[in-house]
Amino acid sequence: MKKIAIFASGNGSNAENIIRYFRENEYGAEVALVVCNKPGAGVLTRAASLGVHSVVLSRAEINDADKMLGEMERHGIDMVVLAGFLLMVPDFLLERYKGRIVNVHPSLLPKFGGKGMYGRHVHEAVVAAGEKESGITIHHVSEHCDEGQVIFQASVPVLPTDTAEDVEAKIHALEREHFPRVVKECLNESKS
Ligand code: GAR
Repeated sequence: MKKIAIFASGNGSNAENIIRYFRENEYGAEVALVVCNKPGAGVLTRAASLGVHSVVLSRAEINDADKMLGEMERHGIDMVVLAGFLLMVPDFLLERYKGRIVNVHPSLLPKFGGKGMYGRHVHEAVVAAGEKESGITIHHVSEHCDEGQVIFQASVPVLPTDTAEDVEAKIHALEREHFPRVVKECLNESKS
């Protein structure tokens, strides 16, 4: 059984979808660990109610190689999935999990990416710019924010009447539809 760690900072709807996807299908993989940097985040409640082990680590702990690699090794982690994780991934993890760390970003990168562009802020910027479409980008994680190799993109129309909340709902639907499957495909392609 391959083991996935999900890193998340917020509500955790993507984390929950991925946990359920691997639980409900026999793909030879499971989410074995949720890493969160925000005490009280929704993802922790979701992980607990689904019986998935979670750990809250500060930014300093996440950047501590011994602590972090120890945690990953203890759970036998093969792949890392960022799902609304708002910290940069430290170099030692990028090195250890080369090609096996993926992120979902709620826009059509390279548009609306980079520092400060996360969650609702992205959708507000999309609406303010009068964009006619938005979407999701699933990409490999590199040392540069939102710049790793793109694996998959999907788009949806943005209507002139759409609010940021409307766009967010469409984006979450796209994430629900595609992210778990793309994670599975990446896991199958990775050699580990
Ligand atoms: C998702 O829409 C994800 O694409 C976005 O945060 C949301 C987390 O929702 N990620 C980023 O903005 C990363 N730059 P969730 O906590 O309900 O999964």
